[in-house]
Amino acid sequence: MEITKVGVLGCGLMGSGIAQVSATAGFEVIVLDVEQKFLDKGFAAIEKSLAKFAEKGTLKESPETVRHRLKGTTKKQDLADCDIVIEAIIENLHEKREMYASLDPIVKKEAIFASNTSSISITEMMTAGKRPERFVGLHFFNPVPLMKLVEVVKTIAAAEDVYETAYNFAKKLGKVPVRTSDKTGFIVNRLLVPYMLDAIRAFEEGVGSIPDIDNAMKLGCGYPMGPFTLLDFVGLDTTYYITHVMYDEFKEKRFASPPLLKRLVMAGWFGRKSGKGFYDYADPNNPAPVKF
Ligand code: CAA
Ligand code: NAD
Repeated sequence: MEITKVGVLGCGLMGSGIAQVSATAGFEVIVLDVEQKFLDKGFAAIEKSLAKFAEKGTLKESPETVRHRLKGTTKKQDLADCDIVIEAIIENLHEKREMYASLDPIVKKEAIFASNTSSISITEMMTAGKRPERFVGLHFFNPVPLMKLVEVVKTIAAAEDVYETAYNFAKKLGKVPVRTSDKTGFIVNRLLVPYMLDAIRAFEEGVGSIPDIDNAMKLGCGYPMGPFTLLDFVGLDTTYYITHVMYDEFKEKRFASPPLLKRLVMAGWFGRKSGKGFYDYADPNNPAPVKF
C-alpha cells in the first residue's frame, strides 16, 4: 500500500520530531495534540530544527516548503484519511488504549497504526481497536531529526505486507530500520534503561558527582552524552513511566526506579523540557548540576 498522508499523535519531543522528518521526506502530515499550546510548542521546535538544517545546507527544500506540508489539529476527525498514524503521546497504557479505541472507528480501515512507545507492549495496545493485523511499533530515537535508528516492531498478529510497508516507510524517512519483536523495551531500551538507572544508583551510593559520572562516561567510553544529561534529555517523567512498564514485565531490580528519580518526577522536575532535572537549565547553554 502507498503512504501519502501521515498522522502523528502528540506534538511533544518525539511527535514533533516524527512530524518534521515525515514532512521533510515529502509526506503530507497532520499532528494531533490535546491543546493548541502543545501544538505551538512542538511547531516552534520544528521551525528551529528546520532552520538549523537550512543553515547547514542539508535541507533539500526551503523550511517554508517543508512547513507547508505540516498541519496541527486538536480534532481526531481530521486524521480520518491518513494512511499511517504514528502515536507518540504519554507513556501510559490506559491513555494509549483510549486513544486507539477512539481513533479506530474514525481513521480509514486500510490505514496502519504505529506506536512510538518506549516500553509498552504493542500487543496490549493493538487490541484496543479492530485492526491488530495493521498495527506495528515504529520506535524512533531522540532527537528524531538527527538519530538514524528506527526499531520496527512486529507482533504475532501483524500482517507481513503491513510490517514491510512500515519498514520501508522508515527507510523513506531517511532512517535505518532494524527488525525487532514485541518484547518489552525492544533492543535499545532493554540495554539502555538499566544503564541510565544504574547511573542514578551509582550517584545515590556516592560513587561520584553528577558531572563526574557524566564526564566519565563521555570521555572514558566515547558516549555523546553522559547518563544524567541523557536522562534529562529523554525526560525524567518518560523514564519513570518506562521503569514501571519494564519492572512490571521483568520483576528485576535493574529496571526499577531508583528513589531519586521518583522524587524528581514527583517534584515536577522532568529534565530539560521542564527546565530542571539533574541539571538546571536556567541558562540552557550552560546547564548547572543540581545539588542533592
Ligand atoms: N535539529 C537539527 N539540528 C540539531 C538538533 C535538532 N533537533 N539538535 C542538535 N542539532 C545540531 C546542533 O545545532 C549541532 O550543529 P553544529 O554541529 O552545526 O553546531 C549538531 O546538531 C550537534 O549538536 P550539539 O553540538 O548541540 O551536541 P552534540 O554534538 O552532543 O550532538 C546529539 C547532539 C546528536 C543529540 C548527541 O549528543 C547524541 O547523540 N546524544 C545521545 C542521544 C541519544 O542517546 N538518544 C537516544 C535516547 S533514548 C531514546 O530515544 C529511546 C527511548 O525510548 C527513550
Ligand atoms: P512528551 O511529554 O514530550 O510529549 C507527549 C505529547 O503528547 C504532549 O505534547 C502531550 O500534550 C501529548 N498528549 C498526551 N496525551 C494526549 C492525547 N490523549 N491526545 C493527544 N496528545 C496527547 O513525550 P515524548 O518524550 O514525546 O514521548 C512520547 C512517546 O514517545 C512516549 O510513548 C515515549 O515513551 C516515547 N519515546 C520517547 C523518547 C524520548 O526520548 N523522550 C524516545 C523514544 C520514544
